[in-house]
Amino acid sequence: MQSNKIAIGRLKNADASVAARFFKGALKTLPYYSPETRDDIALYSSKNLRKDLKDRNLILLVVKDDKKIIGFISASSHKATGWIDYVLVDPNYRHRGIASSLIRNTERAMKRSTHKIWVDTSPDNLKAIKLFRKLGYKEIARLGRYHNQDKIIWEKSL
Ligand SMILES: CC(C)(COP(=O)(O)OP(=O)(O)OC[C@H]1O[C@@H](n2cnc3c(N)ncnc32)[C@H](O)[C@@H]1OP(=O)(O)O)[C@@H](O)C(=O)NCCC(=O)NCCS
Repeated sequence: MQSNKIAIGRLKNADASVAARFFKGALKTLPYYSPETRDDIALYSSKNLRKDLKDRNLILLVVKDDKKIIGFISASSHKATGWIDYVLVDPNYRHRGIASSLIRNTERAMKRSTHKIWVDTSPDNLKAIKLFRKLGYKEIARLGRYHNQDKIIWEKSL
């Protein structure tokens, strides 16, 4: 992350509606946008994000360039295992280490209570596959037609 104005931090209540708009916009550009993905837009509404901020098992981080949200990650932990639900970076800011930074910060935040972290990708999402491999995630399973899409499940021990 090069600019001085670019900073990573926990999502704040005041940014919930901007984050919901960022999430919706970013999701619509995905090649694997589907009815199931569309349901997720409702899950990440500003109202739900504000509620999620009170949930100690959820990690919601954003990267901002000044006041603009350019990256977002949501992850959840349950009984010593964690799951990265979404990591999204503004197309104008990609390949500059923003997703890597969001994931590393999530891993650090989870490390005390979590021993394993999982994430899924589509087998076609080569950028995400490269990203998770580079950060030490190992493929542990392939699910056919899970939520109508094939999925690779990745795991990293923390
Ligand atoms: C996948 C995604 C999150 C990567 O974000 P990013 O900030 O560009 O990723 P980083 O800059 O941290 O890149 C880390 C590594 O990922 C891979 N990568 C990222 N962008 C890439 C590209 N355009 N081409 C090839 N590899 C790429 C590389 O291995 C890269 O390491 P390198 O810079 O040393 O080559 C981003 O492309 C995105 O938002 N995609 C849409 C949402 C999505 O697919 N999310 C993942 C599943 S939830």
